[in-house]
Amino acid sequence: MARIGVVGAGYVGLTTAACFARLGHDVVCADVEPAKVESLSRAEVGAHEPGLPELVEEGVRGKRLRFVLGNDEALSGVDFVFLCVPTPTGADGAADLAAVHAVLREARGAVRPGCAVVLKSTVPPGTAERVAGLLGRDDVGVVSNPEFLREGHAVDDFLRPQRVVVGASAGGEDAARRVVGLYEGTGAPAVVTDSTSAELVKYASNCFLAMKLSYVNSLAELCERVGGDISDVTEGMSLDDRIGTAFLEPGPGWGGSCFPKDTKALLSAAEEARVDFPLLRATIGTNGHQARRVVDLARAAIGPLRGARLGLLGLTFKAGTDDLRDSPALAVAALLAEEGARLVGYDPCVRRDCGPVRVLGSAEEVARGADGLLVLTEWPEFAELDWPALADSVHRRVIVDTRNLLPLDKVVEAGFHLVNLGRRAAA
Ligand code: UDX
Repeated sequence: MARIGVVGAGYVGLTTAACFARLGHDVVCADVEPAKVESLSRAEVGAHEPGLPELVEEGVRGKRLRFVLGNDEALSGVDFVFLCVPTPTGADGAADLAAVHAVLREARGAVRPGCAVVLKSTVPPGTAERVAGLLGRDDVGVVSNPEFLREGHAVDDFLRPQRVVVGASAGGEDAARRVVGLYEGTGAPAVVTDSTSAELVKYASNCFLAMKLSYVNSLAELCERVGGDISDVTEGMSLDDRIGTAFLEPGPGWGGSCFPKDTKALLSAAEEARVDFPLLRATIGTNGHQARRVVDLARAAIGPLRGARLGLLGLTFKAGTDDLRDSPALAVAALLAEEGARLVGYDPCVRRDCGPVRVLGSAEEVARGADGLLVLTEWPEFAELDWPALADSVHRRVIVDTRNLLPLDKVVEAGFHLVNLGRRAAA
């Protein structure tokens, strides 16, 4: 059993803290927001993350997990400090490391000799090496240990990871070995390397996935023009196991708290290192054009958008989360509003109005009197809606399904004109 301090009780920090407690460690998790610390101490979890409330409850009740205000306790008296503070996009697309630096300044005089300081926050290549210099403690190892947690699957991804990546900065080799030991119970293969390579694994993975999606979104556009069907094209591609099946669904663009930030940060790191990375520029550029493309499809199917009442099904950046950060649905909504459409929306996880979208309590309310419906998030329940009943309540029977989620036959039988990405429109 190790004593672990986790700095930052955001989505990554909280998952890390609760999961290490589950693995049997003694965990102190620090945050600067009093309200958050108070509610977490009562085992109340605000975020929508399956399994996390139960783990927090279990850890707090079993006294293996504590939440504290301010970082002191999470820095002193522990064997490992995990930094899980935000690294948002800063100037020129580079990651803003202000929060990481602030914690390090505190850590310098606080951490015990022999402690491992672990960067879990996503940071640009070379950061752990620089941080070791900033920390200025020969008796403390600085280690990179990036997270690969998908929202909606974070607990599972932590406890049953496909890989554990640990990188040592100069002199941190022993600390890195001890970090690998923390994950022993997960049975995952470990990649042990230098800290810069470990930092790159995280960016390289997320940017590769984003690149796959931009590629497929462009392919879908091509399918529409030349008359192919993207589902058949990707099915045919995915039977080649060098390509695989994952991340080949076209959509309104990729979003969320990671891909947009990480693609920009890697491009910025490449530019700083004077490496031309046109693939990454194109990946980002293609995604930037995706919301506009969805609006063009909507206009072509519905007609002029000024004054039209449009119903949006799904607002979060993907299904299974309540997260609206960098949601492509909201990018589409902003453009529709710019063209003068009146927007109502429904999302199983969103209760408050979002920007120009008046949020209603059900898909049925959203459909009532609508001049068109747009499916923007792939919530499975949208596929189960009563299409004949909805067809009776809409004003015009047009649907733009950007997730290719709805059952084509049923929707068309109910009398709708259905537009998908990468397919010919149906009926
Ligand atoms: C991602 C990475 O998967 C995770 O490893 C990393 O640690 C954090 O970033 P997450 O942000 O939760 O996780 O989202 P993810 O499930 O990867 O989806 C990203 C975006 O791609 C979403 O907007 C999603 O809707 C979109 N997507 C995904 C598609 O449009 N099509 C697909 O086939 C898959």
